[in-house]
Amino acid sequence: MLSRSVKLSLRFILPLAILLCLFAYIVVPLMDKLTLRWSLRDLDNRSQLLATTLQVPLREDVLLNDSAHIKRLFDGAIEDERLFALGFCDASGKLLYKTYTYPTSLGCWNPPADGTARKSLVQLPRGPVHVAETPIMDAGSELGRLILVHDMSFIERRSAETTKYVLGFFALLAVAIAFLTLLVSHLSWRGWLASLNDVLRGQLIPRATAKPDPDAPPPPPEMEPLIGELRSLLEEYHQERQHSDGGSYVGNGSDWAPEKLKALLQQDLAGDQVLVVSNREPYIHEKAADGTVKVRRPASGLVTAVEAVMRACSGTWIAHGAGSADRETVDKNDHVPVPPKNPSYTLRRVWLTEEEEKGYYYGFANEGLWPLCHIAHVRPVFRSSDWEEYVKVNRRFADAVIKEARTDNPVVLVQDYHFALLPRMVREALPKATIITFWHIPWPNSESFGICPWREEILEGMLGSTILGFHTPFHRKNFLDTVDRYLETRIEPEASTISYGNELTQVEDYPISIAWPDYPDTVPVDVCRTEIRQILGVPQDHLLAFGVDRLDYTKGILERFQAVDRMLEMHPAMVGKFSFVQIAAPSRSDLEEYMNFEQRVRKLADKINDRYGKDGYLPIILKIEHHDQNELQRYFRASEVCMVTSLHDGMNLVAKEFIAARDDEHGALVLSQFTGAARELHEALIINPYHIEQGAEALYRGLTMPSVEQVERMRSMRDRVRRFNVYRWAGHMLLDAARLRKREKVMQKIRAHSRTNLRRVG
Ligand code: F6P
Repeated sequence: MLSRSVKLSLRFILPLAILLCLFAYIVVPLMDKLTLRWSLRDLDNRSQLLATTLQVPLREDVLLNDSAHIKRLFDGAIEDERLFALGFCDASGKLLYKTYTYPTSLGCWNPPADGTARKSLVQLPRGPVHVAETPIMDAGSELGRLILVHDMSFIERRSAETTKYVLGFFALLAVAIAFLTLLVSHLSWRGWLASLNDVLRGQLIPRATAKPDPDAPPPPPEMEPLIGELRSLLEEYHQERQHSDGGSYVGNGSDWAPEKLKALLQQDLAGDQVLVVSNREPYIHEKAADGTVKVRRPASGLVTAVEAVMRACSGTWIAHGAGSADRETVDKNDHVPVPPKNPSYTLRRVWLTEEEEKGYYYGFANEGLWPLCHIAHVRPVFRSSDWEEYVKVNRRFADAVIKEARTDNPVVLVQDYHFALLPRMVREALPKATIITFWHIPWPNSESFGICPWREEILEGMLGSTILGFHTPFHRKNFLDTVDRYLETRIEPEASTISYGNELTQVEDYPISIAWPDYPDTVPVDVCRTEIRQILGVPQDHLLAFGVDRLDYTKGILERFQAVDRMLEMHPAMVGKFSFVQIAAPSRSDLEEYMNFEQRVRKLADKINDRYGKDGYLPIILKIEHHDQNELQRYFRASEVCMVTSLHDGMNLVAKEFIAARDDEHGALVLSQFTGAARELHEALIINPYHIEQGAEALYRGLTMPSVEQVERMRSMRDRVRRFNVYRWAGHMLLDAARLRKREKVMQKIRAHSRTNLRRVG
């Protein structure tokens, strides 16, 4: 059977061949005619020339009637291979002398009786000949006519040869055209496919309003219209999804809000119990030096987002009790109502031994999976002992979920890479549970993930989920590829589902977000500007850029400092007038990699400060300590620029928090292209954090951005973050879960019905 590509090629080559045959069919006779005309003209000239040469001797011989000499003269002349015969007719039209080759039927080549013109091309039984005559004159009177007959058989040979060459030429032309066209179309097709792929993978070229990514190759110009159409189709699709997915739960417009989420839970999930599992707890009770117990909120995007959902939905949040006063604040079931001031849900703490925490959290999760999933050039480390603890702790948390479940079908929201095995463990005990797992960090490509020695176990564990969520389509796609590569499953890429055993997992991208603030008691921007500058000890007109992160090597803090350094070098007028404030919350500091990183951050800040600092002026103000949300809000509102320069980040909520904090619609955001947030916040100054000059220029551009431009960019980003908030994130996952539940119920009914029918038939 012909392969598809050969068939496609034939579809082009066959019409081309037919067309060229047609051409040849028309061209060959034309060429023949032309060749004949040239040859006749050629023979006319030749005959003329010969006649001129023979004129004088022939006249004398005719006058002398010297037939012997005429014969010699004629025989000598026809030794020429083309000249076939000669004849001489007298004035009365009588053939007096001729060569033996002279065709008798030709006679004196008199004009036809019908008065038509003679043709020099005469067909004889032996083949075509060319005939020409020249009068032989003597003293003004005509003695007779010399008739010259040329052989024309060479013309036939020449014509046959020409035909052969023309056909050969067309055949070669057909092959060359076909080859070149196929080559060019194949190359263009590959280019188009790659561009189309980029579009479908979500790599839409940046919008006109955003700073174009200088590293991204531009799409081929012929793809522009298609990209434009695809983009608007995708936008339409997203809009539609946004409106249709929650329309019936809102009374006041289409924005997702806590009430809408609650309504969804009650209507579609019949108020089912919600259980959240995460490693990090939302409230940490710690014993202060004076013996009092203080509550601290951890620096965690996950906690910020999920906490808002839990406040809206109530339920139970199961997490590791890591605070020094955690044990003394729980009841006998390890429960504590939170938020402490206005409880709306229950925090269930799980206790871990030091060894368990070391192996499961520091070891497998943060020395293994964390660097494995982030491209930040830190090598993952996998140890069997860590894996054993990881399995054990996942089992411990799964048991807690099972124990907390009041029904056999709770909604379980599993958070992050700490619990890859838990979904299957819960599924085995509670087959009817709706398990929604959200992976808050990137998912690497299948090859990179293959490094993990327990890759199959991790994938099997995750596929215990009903729904599996990632921040971006890239990570979702990487996951599907990974499963395809390492597990025997059935994947439906269009529906984005994976069937493994008898279970179906829906894999989707749900970009996480924040709860949009309602600003009842926000400190005015002017006040924040004044206070923060007073705290920092800088003049009131001092320009500030701000960054806040966990002290983690994935966040691009060193690259950010280098950009500050380069900016001051490129724009010396900024020295003394600008400072960069970095708040870095200590994180995972028991790990050597993190300890080293902290040293490098401190060292670089000192180096830059030594270089430019003078009379108390510091270009970099580094604060390695925890800050609460209120303090961070003030920094966000007081700064000209916020810098988010992660080397790789699932989403990065700092970027969205900055946008939400700027109700004055001012301030500029410098944002790494390697964050999930860059896919949504197109109006930020998008940079490649590895490119130091680019970071420096973006920082300078942000500090000097005209007010009108700031407002235009900020307004658009605020509108998006407000609409695409965390309730929408959770809402979409719950809506999908509700749909799957309904589908499962219908399928069960169908199965039960067919069993009954089968029994009846039996
Ligand atoms: O980014 C991944 C993540 O788990 C976040 O969800 C969270 O904000 C952060 O890491 C917290 O890390 P840790 O709990 O290890 O301090």
